[in-house]
Amino acid sequence: MKSIAIIGAQWGDEGKGKFVHLLSGKADVICRYQGGNNAGHTVVTGGKKYVFHLIPSGILKEDKVCIIGNGVVVNPYALQEELDMLKGAGIDPDSRLFVSDRAHLIMPYHIELDAASEEAAGVGTTRRGVGPAYSFKYARMGIRTCDLTEKDYLDRVVTLALDEVNAILVKRFNRKPVLKSDVMQKIPEYLDILNPCTVNTSKLLNEYIRQGKRIIYEGAQGVLLDVDFGSYPYITSSSPAPGGILTGLGVGPKSVGQVLGIVKAYTTRVGSGPFPTELKNEVGELIRKRGVEFGASTGRPRRCGWFDAVSVRHSLMVSGTDTLAMTKFDVLDNFDMIRVCTQYEIDGKKTSDFPSNAAVLERVVPVYEEFEGWDKSSGIRDYNKLPDAAKDYIRTLEEMLGIEIVMLSTGADEEDTIVRGKLVLD
Ligand code: IMP
Repeated sequence: MKSIAIIGAQWGDEGKGKFVHLLSGKADVICRYQGGNNAGHTVVTGGKKYVFHLIPSGILKEDKVCIIGNGVVVNPYALQEELDMLKGAGIDPDSRLFVSDRAHLIMPYHIELDAASEEAAGVGTTRRGVGPAYSFKYARMGIRTCDLTEKDYLDRVVTLALDEVNAILVKRFNRKPVLKSDVMQKIPEYLDILNPCTVNTSKLLNEYIRQGKRIIYEGAQGVLLDVDFGSYPYITSSSPAPGGILTGLGVGPKSVGQVLGIVKAYTTRVGSGPFPTELKNEVGELIRKRGVEFGASTGRPRRCGWFDAVSVRHSLMVSGTDTLAMTKFDVLDNFDMIRVCTQYEIDGKKTSDFPSNAAVLERVVPVYEEFEGWDKSSGIRDYNKLPDAAKDYIRTLEEMLGIEIVMLSTGADEEDTIVRGKLVLD
């Protein structure tokens, strides 16, 4: 099957956008299957920088079809903003961007709830309303794109939803209630934005698969933020792991030909939650500065630390990752010494397992292996030209993780990429 899933194997922000963009030249269709506009996928091409939150970054290539699947939660205004950004850059997404008729909408009250609970004591969400939108989906109080024209349904569900929302906003958070009239007056605008691109994307995608088209499944966030396999409850509310592809797009398990995991050469995390290799010192600061580690969606400084082979092994296992690409390799240039966490020590015992419980993960003392640093990898596009110490780092990580690193990014530009192996789309 000529299709590939591109997923983050850490806590998000691994640089998936660059590889989706690079590989989209070899694909016909690019799909998002989970998350919402909490994501921030950055592409630097032709000297220009584009940041996507909702639309698959493959949209930059003019002949590609892009799909926002039913598993994505859609804020219509965020979609409109991105459409405007594209049109302003001379890129026409019309007739090649499709949103699922079953995709749930992020309603204004989801954003209010997210903000209120974050202010009280949250997990450091992006405050985009993503978690509440998924909660309401599973509580059978969601509004999908196909529901926008169904007046009775809308009326009943918005009333039900606001009963819940306002009880929480007013009683728990001492905030103003959300008025039904304010919500309902947005519906015509939502329809204007969504109507032109809303279709049954599962039917469309299955037809493309039947025709043998090449598909990219673009993951958002990362497996360590997965609702089932991440550092629960410090997670996002969807399934970035490949399981999300099946439910988030309505395709069968055989439609994923290959899983390409993306990792940074080190680790970052935004928001709260355990982070065993975090560097709360000048080394962490240096990585943040050199790697420009600030959230693409929220601008928040990202927490930085050494590469954590224990958590990545867990990610690779639960997502059946076939092969790996490593980004931001050049950020590690010029360090005298680089560390990689090979095992965890928990309550005095060493383990190679990633704990299921966040409190246990919080108690981890990382066991490190040290590597000699190297001068410069920045901008190098041929593996053989990398310094020996850099090649050692890559080889040892491959051994530790039991997986091949087929691509390496040595700079933000799409050209600053080392390709060492073939992918299913080649
Ligand atoms: P939410 O997805 O906005 O609900 O946030 C839940 C957690 O996921 C928070 O720790 C966020 O910082 C994190 N998160 C959400 N989206 C991203 C992303 O695209 N990159 C990195 N972290 C993310």
